[in-house]
Amino acid sequence: MARIIGTLSTSHIPAIGNAIAKKQQNEPYWKPFFEAWPPVREWLAHERPDVIVFFYNDHGLNFFLDKMPTFAIGACAEYVSEDEGWGIPTIPSIKGNPKLSWHIINGVVEDGFDPVMCQEMAVDHAITNPMLLMYPDAHWPAAIVPIAINSIQHPLPGPKRCYGLGRAVGKAIESYPEDLKVLLVGSGGLSHQLDGARAGFINKAFDAECLEAMVSGVEPLLKYSSLDVVEKAGAQGVELMCWIAARAAMQGDVTEVARTYHIPISNTASAVQLLSHTRTAIAKAA
Ligand SMILES: [Fe+2]
Repeated sequence: MARIIGTLSTSHIPAIGNAIAKKQQNEPYWKPFFEAWPPVREWLAHERPDVIVFFYNDHGLNFFLDKMPTFAIGACAEYVSEDEGWGIPTIPSIKGNPKLSWHIINGVVEDGFDPVMCQEMAVDHAITNPMLLMYPDAHWPAAIVPIAINSIQHPLPGPKRCYGLGRAVGKAIESYPEDLKVLLVGSGGLSHQLDGARAGFINKAFDAECLEAMVSGVEPLLKYSSLDVVEKAGAQGVELMCWIAARAAMQGDVTEVARTYHIPISNTASAVQLLSHTRTAIAKAA
C-alpha cells in the first residue's frame, strides 16, 4: 500500500529560482533561506519518496480570472515548466503518475469534492522552485501529482474546506494498492501581500501560530474563514491553505524534522518546515 512519509512545506517565491540560476545561495540576503535545505535533502536522500503530491496554487499559467477552478488535479504523464520568465534556464520536465492521480481524483470525488481533472497541465514556480530546492541537480527521482488550490479569485476556499480536501487526498493515497512512498508538499506562504495599501505586510505572530499548528495539528486554524486569513496573512498569504491541506492528509504520528523562518525574502515571510509521518499510527487511527 502507498504510505505518506511526511510533508515538506515551503515558500516558493519566484525570486528563489532567479537566485538559484545566478548561484546566489551564499549571498547574505539569500543564505538564511538556502541554509534550511541541506537537512531536508539529507532526509530526502534517506527516505527516497517515489511520488510527491503537491498542494500548490497556479499563478495564472493554467487558469486565469476568466476560468478559475477552486481545486484542480493533474493527471498527466509529464509536466513541463512554463514559468513566467526571469531568464531562468529551462529545467527538465517532471514525470507524473497518472494512475495515482486518477485514484486520488476518484477518491476525492467520492468524498464530495469536484476538482477539475487536467490531462494537460504546465507547472510554474510553485512546483519548480521546491523541486529545485529538494533536488538541485534537476534529476528528479520522484514523480509528481499536482493539486492546485485557488488562491487568486474570490471566493477562495477557506481552511475548513482545504482541510477536508487534504483529508480526502490522504485517505485516497493510503488506499492506493501500490507500495509507494509519498511525500506531500505544501507550497506557498507564509504571510505576504504583494500590492495594495498593505504591500509588504507580514504577520510574524500569525506565522508562528501556523508553524506550531502544523506540528500539533491544524484543527485550531479551522475557525478562520478565507477572509480572516487574508486579513491575518495578507492577500497572497492565503497560500497557507496549501500547507493546511497537506497537513490534513497526515492523520498519524507527526514529528518535526526541520524548521526555518526568515523575513523577508522579496515581500514575503519565508518558511521551510519538514514533518515526518508514520504509517503505523494511521493504521491504528483507521
Ligand atoms: Fe505564490
